[in-house]
Amino acid sequence: MIKQAIIPLAGLGTRLLPLTSVFAKELLPINGKPGIEYILEECIDAGIKEVIFIISKKKIMIKNYFYNDKFYKSIINKKKDPRVIKEYKKILKFKKMIKFVYQDKPLGTGDAVLKTRKFIKDKFFLMLLPDDLIIKKNCSKSMIKIHNQYNSSVMASMNVNKRTVSRWGIYKLGNRLNKKDYLIKDVIEKPSIKNAPSNKAVIGRYILPRDIFQKLSKQKPGKGGEIHITDAIQSLISDNKKFIAHNFSGRYLDCGSMRGYIKSTVEISKL
Ligand code: G1P
Repeated sequence: MIKQAIIPLAGLGTRLLPLTSVFAKELLPINGKPGIEYILEECIDAGIKEVIFIISKKKIMIKNYFYNDKFYKSIINKKKDPRVIKEYKKILKFKKMIKFVYQDKPLGTGDAVLKTRKFIKDKFFLMLLPDDLIIKKNCSKSMIKIHNQYNSSVMASMNVNKRTVSRWGIYKLGNRLNKKDYLIKDVIEKPSIKNAPSNKAVIGRYILPRDIFQKLSKQKPGKGGEIHITDAIQSLISDNKKFIAHNFSGRYLDCGSMRGYIKSTVEISKL
């Protein structure tokens, strides 16, 4: 069973500047609610019991959002506003399940994952990238089902426009398992159009094996000088470890870009 999730949150959010010059992008409101709450709700609904946030000192605002008890208590004591009480209860529920670890240098997603090594208890865990919102269907839940069926690692996947392959992790398709799930042959981080093995992109939901930590601890920086999770995954695939691409049926919203961020509010308000 997948009970733990990790969420890398130390990213600088440069695509959303100037909003992110003083503000954590994951707290920016999407239809009146911080983006990170949608991600947490997805986790809870998928049966996750503990979530590890990887933050940096610069993103301490995220921890403060969940640790503002004094403030809530004084407001609630003064006037017993049912709305505030309800919101506070929700925050407390989230707080109970979150652990914080720190990544003070933005060395890449792979480096962020490595910071959670001592906290991961089971053979597999879930990772969610907070820029990637998937609405209408719980992608993590579907992936956990597939994991349970095949006892394998799983990554969310989507076809992208060939011209944009250098924005994503792109994989080479292996055997088809069923209508939505395929084995992955190879995966490459942000390839050029020329080197891309397909137009099939990895989206920010991963069920990863604990073996990934060993790979990450030895991994050299890749594209852009960062330690990429994609490179560690490729290394496991080369060792014949099974990775499944799940073509999810929800709707993908890229909240890390200004266009996507604005669109996400419009789309979510229509739900
Ligand atoms: C990350 C991953 C990339 C993946 C993407 C999905 O890239 O490194 O492989 O396709 O998320 O959103 P980033 O968005 O951090 O550049």
